[in-house]
Amino acid sequence: MRILLTGKNGQLGRCFQDICSPSKHELMSYGSDELDISQTDQVLSAVAEVKPDIIVNAAAYTAVDKAEDESDKAYAVNELGVKNLAQAAQQLGIPVIHVSTDYVFDGYGVEPYKPSDPTTPQGVYGASKLAGEKRLAQICTQYIVLRTAWVFSEYGNNFVKTMIRLANQRDSLSVVADQYGCPTYAGDLAQAILQLCDQYQQTGELAWGTHHYCGDLPTSWHGFARTIFAKAEQVGLIQSKPQLTAISSAQYPTPAKRPEYSVLDMATLTNLDVSCSPWLVALDRVLETLKRDTQE
Ligand SMILES: NC(=O)c1ccc[n+]([C@@H]2O[C@H](COP(=O)([O-])OP(=O)(O)OC[C@H]3O[C@@H](n4cnc5c(N)ncnc54)[C@H](OP(=O)(O)O)[C@@H]3O)[C@@H](O)[C@H]2O)c1
Repeated sequence: MRILLTGKNGQLGRCFQDICSPSKHELMSYGSDELDISQTDQVLSAVAEVKPDIIVNAAAYTAVDKAEDESDKAYAVNELGVKNLAQAAQQLGIPVIHVSTDYVFDGYGVEPYKPSDPTTPQGVYGASKLAGEKRLAQICTQYIVLRTAWVFSEYGNNFVKTMIRLANQRDSLSVVADQYGCPTYAGDLAQAILQLCDQYQQTGELAWGTHHYCGDLPTSWHGFARTIFAKAEQVGLIQSKPQLTAISSAQYPTPAKRPEYSVLDMATLTNLDVSCSPWLVALDRVLETLKRDTQE
């Protein structure tokens, strides 16, 4: 099957390329310099030329805080970009697998969010991603939206890499302890998307609509940091664990408000045999990889 992948240089894009077997699928991957999804002409001509069997959209404007001042840019990628991909896919009669975010929810929930729960984004990034979801649903008859959260990997910028960098610079760190979510390894998310591609290839069908994909164990950023430091010390990525202080969101103000609670209910996917991201296992693997990278 021929897969057109956008956002090839991001965390998800890179992980997807790592695991997509050339013997099974022909993968045509594009970075933003090769295919800017906000440019309608570029999208239409790339899709018409490649004639993929499916589009996987890993491209997004993901600068959550900057988005508050760059609303136009966020919407250009996260809404218009998705609309462009949706229209191109619909013209060709092919499906789109698109990735969205827990930030579409307000974060005041007390139990895991279901795909059907009401959406109330608290910032520009979440609102622009929700606008993209809506465009996709309006235009495409065959689409999957996979909402995910707290993505980490060996690639790009993410919480795991930031914590390790800071632990090597400081003796003590304060991390927010009143926001809860599920860390998700980008490689596991890529695997789930590939599983959906395989299923589509075999059956020509998928459970079209919106689903959630995330890690298997909820934690706080503080809890996540504590786990990262313990494992990073074992692997030798940091000399010693910094003193870790739990603080509240109010003590760490950010331009964009974060959801306090963004645990996602994955039931609609686990019912289809797509398992949650075992993020503790994935974290070990990511830390080993980062350690290897420092030795090269
Ligand atoms: N990271 C998280 O914690 C998180 C949480 C929830 C949901 N998500 C969602 O998960 C998906 C993957 O996230 P990620 O962490 O892999 O993101 P990422 O590492 O920031 O990668 C996003 C990629 O999108 C590309 N991009 C930006 N504007 C583009 C444009 N106009 N045209 C084409 N490509 C463009 C960027 O390319 P360049 O770098 O070349 O510009 C970048 O490589 C996104 O949909 C994101 O919203 C992420």
